[in-house]
Amino acid sequence: MKDNTANQFGGGWTEAKMEIVVNYAKAYLTIMNKQDWVKTLYFDGFAGSGLIEASEEKEAIKGTALRILEINEPKPFDIYYFVEKDKKNKEALDATIKEAYPNKKTYVVQEDCNVKLITMAKYLKNNKNFRALVFVDPYGMSVNWTSIEKLEKLGIDLWILVPTGVGVNRLLKNDGKIPEGWFKKLEDFLGLERNEIVNHFYSYKTVNTLFGDETAINKDVQIIQKIGDLYSQRLKTIFEHVSNSFVMRNKNNSIMYHFMMATNNKTALKLANDIINPKYKL
Ligand SMILES: C[S@@+](CC[C@H](N)C(=O)[O-])C[C@H]1O[C@@H](n2cnc3c(N)ncnc32)[C@H](O)[C@@H]1O
Repeated sequence: MKDNTANQFGGGWTEAKMEIVVNYAKAYLTIMNKQDWVKTLYFDGFAGSGLIEASEEKEAIKGTALRILEINEPKPFDIYYFVEKDKKNKEALDATIKEAYPNKKTYVVQEDCNVKLITMAKYLKNNKNFRALVFVDPYGMSVNWTSIEKLEKLGIDLWILVPTGVGVNRLLKNDGKIPEGWFKKLEDFLGLERNEIVNHFYSYKTVNTLFGDETAINKDVQIIQKIGDLYSQRLKTIFEHVSNSFVMRNKNNSIMYHFMMATNNKTALKLANDIINPKYKL
């Protein structure tokens, strides 16, 4: 029977995305296991209900949070922090975790991810022996650039799902006539001024018409890829390295998301690219 607290989204790439994070977490814990002074934190900013109702599945499948909690070899994380804004999802996840993982140090909080990314950054500044694996998995453009900026110079490996096709591209209108509220959203998401956004994605050309000169506006053709590249460049202003992207497409082959990892650690970068690359195609 389907569970009504299961998050509804999916496709083969949902499974692939979870596999990437879980495989990365296992490799990460293997490395951390060799540094016995390090404490590890797993932070999930969009944790969900614990279950995912994937469109092609009859039964709900386990979400990333529960899969991460299953890892015990070579060791578990020292602390797990799950953030979920929706009350029902938060309560469902909390109940499952309390029952299945009573002995693990877990926190499940109902809050906006942006708020908790900022408090996590403060925690890591005050607890220098902690390293964090951070998973940020929104449906849309919910993560503000001001939250990402707070993560600078910390021991964080950040896996982030960037809604390039389903978010940013939809706001960049073909005719360039972007409503005020959409501009504000783009600015908050990318941390750029609107003239920088316009100049990055649009080109203007004067055309000579019967009624005199007119300005034609053109949106870049490879726009979604360009949005992914821009977000990666933005992350490189905060972190030393950003991985390649795992590009997620819908059934019509249109790009929906870019999934990438940012880190200050070169070994972590190699690890992420090694995990992504077999699946990486554009
Ligand atoms: C894509 S689903 C997460 C799936 C989950 N990562 C998994 O693999 O099982 C996104 C979740 O984020 C929650 N959410 C939406 N906006 C949020 C916000 N601003 N902060 C925290 N959670 C939010 C939604 O209620 C939803 O459960």
